Amino acid sequence: MFLRNHWYVAAWSEDIGREPISRVMLGELVMLYRTEDGWPVALEDRCPHRNLPLSEGNLVGDVVQCLYHGLEFGADGVCVHVPGQDNVPDWARVKRYPVAERNRWVFVWMGDPEAADEAAVPDYSTRLVDPEWITISGYQVVRCGYRLILDNLLDLSHLAYVHARTTGNAALAEDAVLTTEAEGDRVRITRWMEDIEPAPAFRRFGGFTGNIDRWQVSQFLPPSYININNGADDAGSGARGPEQLTSRGKWGFVVYHAMTPESATTTHQFWAVSIPERMVPDAERETFHAQMDTVIPEDTVVYEAQQAAIDRDPDAHDQDANPKGALAIDQALLEMRRVIRRLHRAEQGVAPEPNTGRTLP
Ligand code: FES
Ligand SMILES: [Fe+2]
Repeated sequence: MFLRNHWYVAAWSEDIGREPISRVMLGELVMLYRTEDGWPVALEDRCPHRNLPLSEGNLVGDVVQCLYHGLEFGADGVCVHVPGQDNVPDWARVKRYPVAERNRWVFVWMGDPEAADEAAVPDYSTRLVDPEWITISGYQVVRCGYRLILDNLLDLSHLAYVHARTTGNAALAEDAVLTTEAEGDRVRITRWMEDIEPAPAFRRFGGFTGNIDRWQVSQFLPPSYININNGADDAGSGARGPEQLTSRGKWGFVVYHAMTPESATTTHQFWAVSIPERMVPDAERETFHAQMDTVIPEDTVVYEAQQAAIDRDPDAHDQDANPKGALAIDQALLEMRRVIRRLHRAEQGVAPEPNTGRTLP
């Protein structure tokens, strides 16, 4: 179940240059490169002549030359030269995808090109380019459907078990007060923990010795973006109300994720942890970096094992989780799925789901 009429992250800005790269996005072969002026270009990565991916070929100026028989395509996808003949046939063209670049991310519009709206490019990740913040970032292809990753980021109780060596401890699962809000297509879950023991990373980098107040606000933006504000302060001084959305308190960080489905069961994951520079002293920077780098692989093991189990579930539907029931911690991820289903039905021209007067668990 892919939502097509959306901007998806195709690559970190620095990963696109004059050497064409290939990515499968929503099941389509996409080639990415930069023009001599530095503009990112996304073209269908399949020569219309005999199907060789154009990314195997070479750039000549801004023109891509197919490696096999030398057809040349401009940045608009139209063939400009056929070796050995004067006429260029009408079929000699590839699809050109609308592209945008913001805050170190290159986005590709995967739907109807006519509907591509520059104003709709997600612009929530401004910290990625903030000179007063440091960012640790990465990219990986995960062997699971994109919704399993969204689940993980909309239910941070898992930190207590999956990340107990760094950002989690038991209090995160046991003592959090949850608030889920849906606003249009966005879903937000706030976790508020009062007077709890600090997790290892908060002790080490935040310098907390006594108990803390801690808050985590995860926000989902369709089709598959998440940002999480993490804050902590001495017990009794934690941020309250709307301040939890923007305040880090004494110590905290912001997390950004962009998931782009490759196939139904594989996903491109672009992730970043951004933190105000002053919150990580020079001497601790390397250790902080190393700790944050361990977090993603800890999650990846979980997502991939879930997908492998789903693949063997005879009752699974749409290659997605098939839970026997829901818990209170699942509020936001159920809401996220509802939004995705609604948008998908709208794209397919299918009537909305009936409102069954649902209640959240
Ligand atoms: S396959 Fe590309 S020119 Fe023949
Ligand atoms: Fe995690």
